[in-house]
Amino acid sequence: MQRIRNCCTTLIFFLLVAMPITFAHNEKTKVELPQKLKQYVIESMRQKLAAFDEIMDSLAQDNLHHASQVAEQYLGPSTQTGTHTVFQSYMPAGMRHLDDTLAAAATHFSEVAQTGDTIGALSAFKHVSSSCILCHSAYRF
Ligand code: HEC
Repeated sequence: MQRIRNCCTTLIFFLLVAMPITFAHNEKTKVELPQKLKQYVIESMRQKLAAFDEIMDSLAQDNLHHASQVAEQYLGPSTQTGTHTVFQSYMPAGMRHLDDTLAAAATHFSEVAQTGDTIGALSAFKHVSSSCILCHSAYRF
């Protein structure tokens, strides 16, 4: 009986802890990028994070106009030009879709924020943050 219990504990540990940790790493699709392009992407990601921070700060101060501008300028479709189009050519279809989802979510957030609707803007911003999270949980370089 004791042995069965120990065995069960080991199995539960494996299912709940060890397996998710192992698969969490393997699950991500590795996207191969040339070194120079990788450098550009890392820089642009850091810029996205800085924009994210600035938007949160603007929302906290009820400065929706500024939040709207930052989102459009740093996360919207206008960022999908220049070197970004080279990056897009290396993206698997799913990643490309999330890239477009982020740009569309940023535009939507920007439009809602322009109306001065704080609650609506917060709710729209959730789609921006979930685009970041979904892509990070599925892809790595
Ligand atoms: C289309 C996919 C995609 C989207 C959308 C995306 N990222 Fe990334 N980001 C990545 C990948 C892939 C990495 C590299 C992760 C790795 O290799 O572990 C990364 C890395 C980063 C890094 C780490 C940079 C460093 O210093 O190494 C930051 C910060 C970041 N992203 C911020 C953001 C923010 C903020 C958003 C949303 C506003 C966002 N990203 C949206 C794909 C994406």
